[in-house]
Amino acid sequence: MKTIFSGIQPSGSVTLGNYIGAMKQFVDLQHDYNCYFCIVDQHSITVPQDRLELRKNIRSLAALYLAVGIDPTKSTLFIQSEVPAHAQAGWMLQCVAYIGELERMTQFKDKSQGKDAVVAGLLTYPPLMAGDILLYNTNLVPVGEDQKQHIELTRDIAERFNKKYNDIFTIPEPRIPQDGARVMSLSEPTKKMSKSDPNKKSYITLLDDPKQIEKKIKSAVTDSDGIVEYDKENKPGIANLLSIYSVLGNKSIDELVSLYEGKGYGEFKTDLAEVVITTLTPIQEKYYSIIESEELDTILDEGADKARKVASKMVKKMENAMGLGRK
Ligand code: AQP
Repeated sequence: MKTIFSGIQPSGSVTLGNYIGAMKQFVDLQHDYNCYFCIVDQHSITVPQDRLELRKNIRSLAALYLAVGIDPTKSTLFIQSEVPAHAQAGWMLQCVAYIGELERMTQFKDKSQGKDAVVAGLLTYPPLMAGDILLYNTNLVPVGEDQKQHIELTRDIAERFNKKYNDIFTIPEPRIPQDGARVMSLSEPTKKMSKSDPNKKSYITLLDDPKQIEKKIKSAVTDSDGIVEYDKENKPGIANLLSIYSVLGNKSIDELVSLYEGKGYGEFKTDLAEVVITTLTPIQEKYYSIIESEELDTILDEGADKARKVASKMVKKMENAMGLGRK
């Protein structure tokens, strides 16, 4: 069986973007792959976090993985900071990555823009992410489009390591969904939907209640011509809502366009809100049934144990290849 690794940062409430771009595919893939799904908490501290909020988000994200359908008997679910091999591999790979290539990462440029002081971790995030992936002999990394650049860098770092030290890493491939790879902000539809966006109206979280969902979709920025059609360039707001509707409502964009021909945005948005609510209701029911459970801790403990066993072996191989420690 081939191996999959993917992670989500507990840097806020999981959004519909994270779900459509990443989590939704995880659920199907777990039947055919050996899967590792990670709560990448060490990545989230590359920007300021409130410690209590972070702890809450870590647990919440773990419960959401299960609520969307990750089956712990099929997949390994764990918290990055509970598997020390990630930080160890991250350091070794920082010594393989070049500053120039890290500075070219779009996410680094976006997140550091306009800041007086930028922590080093924001720059060195990609080698840590490379470590996350490479520790498990990963073949495939299911991610949204925004992470493609980081996966390409992971491949470059792995190839460089293999050539310079020893041929120990499997070179992973990104797996980006055909539809919904980049869900856009509801308030600025030319910008990606992000869980750390300070404007809460810009995203729908998996835990928003029906009223919040309706309100956010009703106030989503569109345009003034009132025609439901897919034109990413000139009508990014409606194009984004059509994509969300298409993925969650299992209808093609063409079907939706003809369904709403001659109808206004009001009716379209009301129906879309219904589709989102119908998708999220069972997820929320499962979430609230497990968030406070001991079962959740048991799953995370077992996941960390399993991940530690595999990852520590790769760290040993890396150290041997680089000549660290003793024989
Ligand atoms: N808007 C999006 N559309 C499709 N996929 C998305 N992903 C994120 N945003 C969208 C995918 O979700 C997975 C987890 O992302 P992450 O938490 O590791 O970090 P991110 O990509 O930086 O996501 P956010 O929500 O924008 O987080 P913050 O605000 O903390 O930076 C990834 O597979 C990502 O591609």
